[in-house]
Amino acid sequence: MKRHKLLEPVIRDGKEIEFARYVVIHKQQVGPTKRELFDLLKDEFYASHTSVEKSKLDKIWEFIGPKIENNAGMAEFTKDNQGHKSDYFFPWLINVFRSPATALEMSYGAGSDLNGDWTEGILNTNDPLVPFIKDDPAFVYNRERQLYVADLANSVQDLIKSQGRKAKIVDFGAGRLAWIRKHGYVLSAEQASIYAFDRDPSIKPEELFSSNLEDLGIYFKHGNFAAQFKNPDCQNADLIIMAGLASYIKAADFVGKIIPAIYRLLNPDGIFFFDLQLDCPCYRHSMDILDWPEFKLPSNIGDAIHDVEKSRRMLWEKGIKFSAEYQPDTYNTIPSGVMVTMQKIT
Ligand SMILES: C[S@@+](CC[C@H](N)C(=O)[O-])C[C@H]1O[C@@H](n2cnc3c(N)ncnc32)[C@H](O)[C@@H]1O
Repeated sequence: MKRHKLLEPVIRDGKEIEFARYVVIHKQQVGPTKRELFDLLKDEFYASHTSVEKSKLDKIWEFIGPKIENNAGMAEFTKDNQGHKSDYFFPWLINVFRSPATALEMSYGAGSDLNGDWTEGILNTNDPLVPFIKDDPAFVYNRERQLYVADLANSVQDLIKSQGRKAKIVDFGAGRLAWIRKHGYVLSAEQASIYAFDRDPSIKPEELFSSNLEDLGIYFKHGNFAAQFKNPDCQNADLIIMAGLASYIKAADFVGKIIPAIYRLLNPDGIFFFDLQLDCPCYRHSMDILDWPEFKLPSNIGDAIHDVEKSRRMLWEKGIKFSAEYQPDTYNTIPSGVMVTMQKIT
């Protein structure tokens, strides 16, 4: 099978130390970012992009300026990585808030420029953001996770085909379906139906594929995944994917409500994939410096696995029985996430 390569990260020595330094700068901040640094970033931002209409730059600075002013770590990070001179960094930061799944496309060198035009070719440019795209641990991990999900979906699809059936795959919080588009998943309407749900209305699924979605076996709906537990489209699933979403959900709800509901939706031997981010320098940096939403995260792989195992035992006693396999992020020097593959036992 032809595999899309995982973009190899160029891990810079001491990246975590570098990240931790920005976090400390931010934490120790007592007033606004130093005036000289704020003015320098602003002046250079405008001076570096004279070909872009000033009104467009103003609109971007209106959003970004206060963030830089109130977060000295973000200001230092922007200066060190020349983010203000990049065509893509500020539009990407805005997307972190507006559409996280769209922001994740930056892992593959895709994003909007300052004019609002979408491009897939950032890695082929000299933009200062290129090293960040290649080795930011959150992007590195995202690529690994999408590849893992694509492999898992291929295996499930092959297994179900050998049983003479068509596989049913459900993707909750599907985003832009990167696992289908980027990593060699064999998309075939004859072999699998994929029911995908995301609450982000800015995702336009029909723009992501060149063919009609239903001809490809993809059925995408906007909405809250938690409202789909009685939806017949989600019942008798062979694989349920929840990538990059579990950390958004309160642990008590995830264990008490979501996992039991998923169990009921799955076919016997059906698989539930999810992953947990870890409170490592990478995500502290993402949350404190890149201003991602704040999650409560387990501090390391051991704690994350311990928490899931505890929940699994508790659910097992209630008749909700899953086996579990764990795959820590393997490309980062300090792992940033753990992928969990649970199989329903009946
Ligand atoms: C970090 S992104 C991951 C997207 C995709 N799974 C991936 O791996 O590329 C998380 C996605 O979950 C979606 N999401 C968060 N809470 C949701 C909910 N309650 N119902 C449906 N989608 C949700 C967000 O809109 C976002 O697109």
